[in-house]
Amino acid sequence: MRVQDKSIIVTGAGGGIGEGIAKRLAAEGAKVIVNDINTIAGEKVVADIVACGGTASFFAADVSKSDQVQALVAAAVQRYGRLDVMVNNAGWTHRNRPALEVSEDEFDRCYAINVKSIYLATVHATPVFRAQGGGSFINIASTAGVRPRPGLTWYNGSKGAVIITSKSLAAELGPDNIRVNCLNPVFNPDTGLAAEFAGGPLTEERKTKFRATIPLGRFSSALDVANAALYLASDEAAFISGVCIEVDGARCV
Ligand SMILES: NC(=O)c1ccc[n+]([C@@H]2O[C@H](COP(=O)([O-])OP(=O)(O)OC[C@H]3O[C@@H](n4cnc5c(N)ncnc54)[C@H](O)[C@@H]3O)[C@@H](O)[C@H]2O)c1
Repeated sequence: MRVQDKSIIVTGAGGGIGEGIAKRLAAEGAKVIVNDINTIAGEKVVADIVACGGTASFFAADVSKSDQVQALVAAAVQRYGRLDVMVNNAGWTHRNRPALEVSEDEFDRCYAINVKSIYLATVHATPVFRAQGGGSFINIASTAGVRPRPGLTWYNGSKGAVIITSKSLAAELGPDNIRVNCLNPVFNPDTGLAAEFAGGPLTEERKTKFRATIPLGRFSSALDVANAALYLASDEAAFISGVCIEVDGARCV
């Protein structure tokens, strides 16, 4: 068991990549707080984990609201005695379209869920990590944050912010034995955001065009990202901080 008894929060774990991360970590012995704004979906993920013999519980919270993130962190400590890892996965994008057509409300929502959430997780979890003598943040960024394409400009920018913020925090919090790392997944067609990224229904033509830009010849899966998260959450990564692991099949353009 690679993360035996570690207390781990996974935000946005009611579906998609977060669900995959929560299940993989639980299968390796973690006690997982499944967070989401969607209670039905989150409870279902918890039930699946428990049915497989794992330990998990649900906590509803909006990652863009300070009081709710504070309560989420407190719940992990109250339920599992400590907090070892916080996986900031919850994310949102405006639909793929020209930058000038994205509304101010969509921009604000994108930055609230993708970037302010990192600020709030840092503010509320860092004191717990410091008191314990260490901890680890894993922030789900995106290939979009390093190799942007047209149509997702504000989303791309938000993920660029996640990446550089994570590197800065790694430098700042390292002396407290707090590690901060990122994962950059490439497109995953089996998630809730897929049609938004694609700018419409995922036709075979769209998929084929996109897949052709990934040298390993397929899209990412939640398991691909979860396996990388498992490594970063484990003690195997004790000296790894400030890195951004590309989970993108070598996407080059
Ligand atoms: N799917 C992809 O192709 C892809 C690629 C690169 C990066 N990512 C990133 O991976 C992460 C997960 O995305 P996904 O594709 O699995 O999306 P998804 O929509 O399938 O899952 C996101 C989950 O987050 C929850 N959520 C949304 N807003 C929330 C909030 N304010 N507070 C708490 N939970 C909230 C949703 O209810 C949902 O269950 C995101 O950060 C996304 O930007 C996704």
